[in-house]
Amino acid sequence: MKMITAVIRPERIQQVKEALFQAGISGITLSRVSGHGGEQVVVEHYRGTRVMVEFHDKVEIRMAVSEPFVQAAIDAVLRGARTGEVGDGKIFVQPLERVVRIRTGEQDTAALTPVTETKLTPDGSL
Ligand SMILES: Nc1ncnc2c1ncn2[C@@H]1O[C@H](COP(=O)(O)OP(=O)(O)OP(=O)(O)O)[C@@H](O)[C@H]1O
Ligand SMILES: [Mg+2]
Repeated sequence: MKMITAVIRPERIQQVKEALFQAGISGITLSRVSGHGGEQVVVEHYRGTRVMVEFHDKVEIRMAVSEPFVQAAIDAVLRGARTGEVGDGKIFVQPLERVVRIRTGEQDTAALTPVTETKLTPDGSL
């Protein structure tokens, strides 16, 4: 299992979500974050120069996935998030030791398998 963290442009979130759902990845945590990619802006002052470290609004997506979904998740983020301009973001992949679904106590890969809700039709048939 891996924890995949992707930092992307906020304006690409819809495309990334669609690409992830198409790849069968549905457990996702989204956060608005403030990020800096390492680029530096040097500002000239009358008493010398100063390095400005600017932060930009980004969205962080976190997904815990089982091994067969790792490459599909990375490919989906690349497909949805890439514009080709600097600042498209980064993907981090970390080993994930344990996952527990709180409702059932299921562990690891079983805890990552999404639950499919079955809805009854009004007449009670499936
Ligand atoms: N090494 C890093 N560690 C943690 N977060 C990072 C790192 N690099 C980038 N990020 C996060 O990703 C966001 C987007 O980074 P960015 O796309 O500018 O990366 P980059 O390596 O500078 O690539 P590019 O050259 O395409 O701009 C940053 O604002 C920051 O939130
Ligand atoms: Mg950058």
